[in-house]
Amino acid sequence: MDTWTLLLVLHTSLLLPWAEGATPTLRFVAVGDWGGVPNAPFHTAREMANAKQIGKVVQMLGAHFILSLGDNFYFSGVQSVSDKRFQETFEDVFSDRSLQNVPWYVLAGNHDHIGNVSAQIAYSKVSKRWNFPSPFYRLRFRIPRTNVSVAIYMLDTVTLCGNSNDFLSQQPERPRNLELARTQLAWLKRHLADAKEDYVLVAGHYPVWSIAEHGPTHCLVKKLQPLLVKYGVTAYLCGHDHNLQYLQDENGVGYVLSGAGNFMDPSTQHQRSVPNGYLRFHYGAENSLGGFAYLEITPKEMTVTYMEASGKSLFKTRLPKRAKA
Ligand SMILES: *[C@@H]1O[C@H](CO)[C@@H](O)[C@H](O)[C@H]1NC(C)=O
Ligand SMILES: *[C@@H]1O[C@H](CO)[C@@H](O)[C@H](O)[C@H]1NC(C)=O
Repeated sequence: MDTWTLLLVLHTSLLLPWAEGATPTLRFVAVGDWGGVPNAPFHTAREMANAKQIGKVVQMLGAHFILSLGDNFYFSGVQSVSDKRFQETFEDVFSDRSLQNVPWYVLAGNHDHIGNVSAQIAYSKVSKRWNFPSPFYRLRFRIPRTNVSVAIYMLDTVTLCGNSNDFLSQQPERPRNLELARTQLAWLKRHLADAKEDYVLVAGHYPVWSIAEHGPTHCLVKKLQPLLVKYGVTAYLCGHDHNLQYLQDENGVGYVLSGAGNFMDPSTQHQRSVPNGYLRFHYGAENSLGGFAYLEITPKEMTVTYMEASGKSLFKTRLPKRAKA
């Protein structure tokens, strides 16, 4: 299968004064489940607060890109490439000046799949900052002014595992198209087996591990987690549960759950479904305006900072560069 690869070589910090002279760093925001509401004003107070804070962080600290972890348009995605929701829930909300030239790399969530994901892919040709080349794809970066490399595998966990009904808190039971699910998993496995990058990240909408409302996704625990461990993946990033979590398994793989872009859910109902010792951080306060993750990758380590939309830094952790054979 012909898949897209975007090779992005980021040059010196000519346009990024905040990086001048400092430790060379690749910086990005990871935010999930930010997709507004289907009725006016098409955004929530939390989405607005997150957009404002992301704008501030990008202005102060910089970001080379923003990763969208899915559920981009509640509750049933978009219908066509000219759907007004692109404007109402995305362009008009993430409107800060500092965000105008920051590319977004997008993947689809279960709510996007109720609508037309092809239209979200086609929107890449309309918006200068919306990049969604294919349902699953690879991104490659270099830390500016270095040869240190980063790969990010953007997955479609809905075609991999099936759709779920959020309101029934259902597990995805099985993929609608088994062949497509197999193709995606084989693609990931083949690439991870050869990955030479100093940092390898995998991103998808459904969590592998979560203590919250939906809990661990059985399909991903079974099919994906063994690959993350076997191939020394640095971290898996996801959304789906509406809160912020950091978990880490006994092999050192990090699990960054950032699903607080639009809703906040305090549930910890799956605490017992996650192995003892994995959970390092959880934040789901109902009175919070939500939040997101900010990642900084240097030649030495990757730092994940969880930020509340209020501007408060909630939790910070570090993961090392991959060991090379
Ligand atoms: C979905 O969007 C694509 C791309 O714009 C379009 O070609 C297709 O007709 C749409 N499908 C439906 C069912 O509307
Ligand atoms: C990157 O690698 C190339 C080729 O090996 C080398 O010539 C260059 O000096 C390296 N650059 C840095 C900043 O390490």
